[in-house]
Amino acid sequence: MTAAAAPTTGSSVAWNHRHLIDLDVVTWPEIELIMRTTEQMKGILARPIRKVPALNGRRVTTLFYEASTRTRVSFETAARNLSADVVSVSTATSSVTKGESLVDTIRTLEALGAEILVMRHSVSGAPYLAAEIFSGHVLNGGDGWHAHPTQALLDLFTMREHVPGGDLRGRKVAIVGDILHSRVARSNIWSLTAAGADLWLCGPATLLRGMDRWAGAWAGGAIPGHGRFNVTSDINAAVKDADVVMGLRIQRERMQGGLLPSLREYAAMYQLNAERVSLAKPDAIVMHPVPMNEGVEIAPDIATSGRSVILDQVSNGVAVRMALLYLLAGAHEAAQPGHEGAHEAAHAEAAR
Ligand code: CP
Repeated sequence: MTAAAAPTTGSSVAWNHRHLIDLDVVTWPEIELIMRTTEQMKGILARPIRKVPALNGRRVTTLFYEASTRTRVSFETAARNLSADVVSVSTATSSVTKGESLVDTIRTLEALGAEILVMRHSVSGAPYLAAEIFSGHVLNGGDGWHAHPTQALLDLFTMREHVPGGDLRGRKVAIVGDILHSRVARSNIWSLTAAGADLWLCGPATLLRGMDRWAGAWAGGAIPGHGRFNVTSDINAAVKDADVVMGLRIQRERMQGGLLPSLREYAAMYQLNAERVSLAKPDAIVMHPVPMNEGVEIAPDIATSGRSVILDQVSNGVAVRMALLYLLAGAHEAAQPGHEGAHEAAHAEAAR
């Protein structure tokens, strides 16, 4: 069904992005660079002392306007593993509660020394505004319904670890759930179609709104380097013979009335349960970006089954975020006069 894109290895590609807001501007060779750098970071995490001086003295600030456990903790852990100084801003206890604007908050954090800003915001596009006014690097930890690029990268890394040969070309990946509100699904569309996966998005029609048009626009190869993807409300068709089955959270906090009759009905029609997952390949893996509503989009026994790689996703998040912090900071240093070679030096240290 899906015309697989043809990834190339791109072993000599350099990282030239100042920010990471979504994967739409990241090429396949650059994604492969992130994957290789993540493997090196996993090597560091396997050592007795999980710390290298690659970002020694660099200042990373996390600014989260929405709740987070994994993204925030793994970014802060990643930054500390690279010896960066970490400042964590909780909007619940900051001057945001007194009406301070996003622009003022970012200008303030920069005046206080922030060099790398990791942010999550409920408004789609907020990181683009941040990137316009912040002189350092902006890393998107999730914005509205728009994008969650580091989640998609850790998903890709985890899939490659489990799919034989680490090559997703032609491998069937079914993403099932609340696609409409999912920044994870939107970023995964970019990375998985670049990887050549046979991608299927599945959910009730009300939670797939707009996806048919997006899929149709790409069906003719409109976006160079990206294969087509499938959109369906037939969960059996989506999951059948899949190599990867990913559930997505029903985002009750973003749900408008009328999109679902009830959670019970959703679970009856779309829950990833033993019967549905048995339609996938015998060695298929089950994923979820978490947090999850166990008993709604995924049955508890499937979430904790031998097929589940959900905790691998969580722990791979640290290595992926170490790779991204390192690549962004390295690219920045390499662009400064007198810092030529800093990127290579940091790379050698990470690889040591
Ligand atoms: N997957 C994810 O983004 O989790 P958090 O909301 O806990 O960061």
